[in-house]
Amino acid sequence: MIQLTTKHLLTIRDLTAQEVLGLIERARQLKAGWRGGYRPTPLAGKSVAMIFEKPSTRTRVSFEVGVFQLGGKALFIASRDSQISRSEPLRDTARVLSRYVDGIVVRTFGHEVVEDLARFGDVPVINALTDRYHPCQVLGDLQTVAEYKGEVRDQVYAWIGDGNNMAHSWIEAAAVLGLRLRLACPEGYDPDPEIVAQARARGADILLTREPDEAASGATVINTDVWASMGQEDEAKGRAEAFGGFTVDGRLMSLAAREAIVLHCLPAHRGEEISDEVMEGPQSAIWDEAENRLHMQKAIMEALLGPRP
Ligand code: CP
Ligand code: NVA
Repeated sequence: MIQLTTKHLLTIRDLTAQEVLGLIERARQLKAGWRGGYRPTPLAGKSVAMIFEKPSTRTRVSFEVGVFQLGGKALFIASRDSQISRSEPLRDTARVLSRYVDGIVVRTFGHEVVEDLARFGDVPVINALTDRYHPCQVLGDLQTVAEYKGEVRDQVYAWIGDGNNMAHSWIEAAAVLGLRLRLACPEGYDPDPEIVAQARARGADILLTREPDEAASGATVINTDVWASMGQEDEAKGRAEAFGGFTVDGRLMSLAAREAIVLHCLPAHRGEEISDEVMEGPQSAIWDEAENRLHMQKAIMEALLGPRP
């Protein structure tokens, strides 16, 4: 297992470059190990509460299975079935859950909610997506890049689409690891300028453009996400118009490096942000990317919730 200095994982900014690389390495070991019969149980006797205020397939299942494989017990708490839906303050929920469980995984809207849980609870909190960040996904994506490409820092990353939670976590990864990242977003859908400025202040090589072709040209990792995220369903029609020309399709891929891979955190809308041809094509690393959520989150939980040497 690797050592992390942070108690919580709320954003990629919480980690150092060495810690990110260590998590990638450990996730790969756990992945190979599980298949080969190496099955450590650092969460034996431990419980993890999973509070979800938004839908999920991958994150929910990969965390629940991950806790199980590490020897612990996961408790899924849909906010609508708990007193959170009846306005019990999060700080009270955090303090009470800390008396029962050893860690809290949370998916919610406002990022301040996960910060509150971390501030008022006593146990580690892991961000399973907020409107602002999706750190576990981007860490799993980096593991996927490492598997396909070797060195994650030698790549040219292109983000095509919305300057959303995923884009923000990629920008932070660029800052922490010193990645080259080109983001093509339509006007009005840029990433938060403060997150970009903070990353640039740390020396991140970030290009913002309105031209998907410019971002994709020569890139070795092409990444996209839905045009309307969870909670933005009412904006879907307007967004579909604004994002015209931002589809990752065969034409755009022809501009990328010959060996480029394509990532999408899923769920995807084929024909919108990505074509069916690219999703199903030989450059798609999307299914391995989805699998790696399990292995990366096991590495994260082992480090944050397992026994400290
Ligand atoms: N990529 C991802 O977080 O998927 P879910 O919304 O299904 O968890
Ligand atoms: N940006 C998307 C990611 C889904 C995993 C959303 O927030 O809905």
